[in-house]
Amino acid sequence: MIKVDLSGASSFFKGNGPDYAAVAEAHRTLAEGTGKGNDFIGWLTLPQTIAAGELKQIVACAKKIRARSQALLVVGIGGSYLGARAAVDLLRPTMKEGDVDIIFVGNGLSPDAMMDTLHRLGDKDFDICVISKSGTTLEPALAFRMYKGLLVSKYGAAEAGKRITAVTDAHRGVLHDMAVKEGWEMFVVPDDVGGRFSVLSAVGLLPMAVAGIDVEKVIACAIDEFKAMDLRSPENPAWQYAAARQHLYRNGKSIEILASYEPSFRFFAEWWKQLYGESEGKDGIGIYPASVEFTADLHSMGQYIQDGPRFLYETVVMFEEDINHFEVPHEVGDPDGLNYLAGRQLGDIMRTAAAAVKQAHIDGGVPNITISVPKRDEAGFAALVVFFELACGLSGYVSGVNPFDQPGVEAYKKNMFRMLGKPGAK
Ligand code: PA5
Repeated sequence: MIKVDLSGASSFFKGNGPDYAAVAEAHRTLAEGTGKGNDFIGWLTLPQTIAAGELKQIVACAKKIRARSQALLVVGIGGSYLGARAAVDLLRPTMKEGDVDIIFVGNGLSPDAMMDTLHRLGDKDFDICVISKSGTTLEPALAFRMYKGLLVSKYGAAEAGKRITAVTDAHRGVLHDMAVKEGWEMFVVPDDVGGRFSVLSAVGLLPMAVAGIDVEKVIACAIDEFKAMDLRSPENPAWQYAAARQHLYRNGKSIEILASYEPSFRFFAEWWKQLYGESEGKDGIGIYPASVEFTADLHSMGQYIQDGPRFLYETVVMFEEDINHFEVPHEVGDPDGLNYLAGRQLGDIMRTAAAAVKQAHIDGGVPNITISVPKRDEAGFAALVVFFELACGLSGYVSGVNPFDQPGVEAYKKNMFRMLGKPGAK
C-alpha cells in the first residue's frame, strides 16, 4: 500500500548507506517488547483491540451525536486531538449538507480563539467530546469547564449530561471521576498507549465517526497494514524510511521537512510533527520535524529549501490517484498564454510540478524521500498512520532514545502552575 522511493536520497548516502541491521534489531526489540518504554507499545495491537472491544459502541455513539447535533466540540490537546483533526481535515476537507461541524477546542489558551468558536457555534445544537488521558491538562480542562457551562445553560443539567462524552483513563484522573459521578458516556485511552499513538483508539475514532468517516474501514485497513508491515526485511517501507532518515541524520541532515501537495494534509503533518518530535527529540539528539505545503510554500520557504544551509532533507507524501479531476480549458486567442496546457488535467500538472521541484531540490543538495499512497481515503489514512507510527518506533530505537516518553513536556507546566498559584505547585 505505501511505497517509499529513496532514489532521490541515495546519492547523499555515505559509506555502506542506511543501516538495515540496526533497524532489524529495533524491530525485533519492539515486537518482543524488550526495549525502552515497553509499557507504552499497546498501539502495535490497538486496531485488533478496538475491533474486538469498543468499536461498535463508538459507531453507535457517533450515530446518536449525528442525529441530535449540528456541531461537536472536541476538547483536547496534543495527542488527544491532532490525530482526529488530521483525519477530519484529510478525509472531509469541506462539509456537505447534513454534516456535523467538528470544532477542535481546548488546544490553546487564547480568549480570541474562544470568541471565534462561539461565533462559529452560533445557536447550533451541539455535543461535547472531552478527551484527556490524564484528565488534568490545563488547556482542555479549562475549555471543558467553560463550554460545559454553555451546554448546561442551553439544555439544563440533565440533557447536558447526555450530550457529554468523555475519553479518558480507564481507572483514574479527575475527568474519569467526573464522568463516573455524572454518568457521562465514557470511552477509554488504553493504559499502554501514549497520546501521540492513540489516533486509532476512541481518541481519534469518535470525532472521525461523527464527521462521517467510515472508522470500521479505517480499523480493518489498519489491521491489514500492521500485518503487512511486520515484514522483517529491507523491503518493508517502514524499515526503508526509518533507516534512511537515521542515516541522513548521522550525516548532518538534522531537519526533516514533511511536504505534501494537498492542502488537506496540513494537520496530518501537524500530527506527524508531534509523533516524531515528542518521540525522538530528547537526550540532546533528534531530527527536527518541520512541514511545508506545496506548491504554496515554494513561494515562501522555497528559497530557503533550495539555497539555505544544507542541513535539510525532505519527505514528500504523494497520493497516486486524484479524487477530483479538472481539465484546463482552451481559450480562443490564448490571452494568458496558457493554451499550451489546454486539455491537460490539473492533477497531472501538479505531478509534473512535483517532479520538477524534486529534481531542483536534489540538485540544490536536499535529499528527497518520496512516500506514495494510492488514494486520499480511509485506507490511505490508515496506511499512513500505521507506516509512520511503526517507522517512528523503529527510528527512535535506532537512535537510542525511549520513543514512548515525553519528560520534556513537564518543564513548562511546572513553571506555569507555580506562576498561576496552583495549590501545592513548586
Ligand atoms: O502525546 C502525548 O502524550 C501528549 O501530547 C498528550 O496527548 C497531551 O499532552 C494531552 O494530554 P492529556 O491527554 O493527558 O490531556
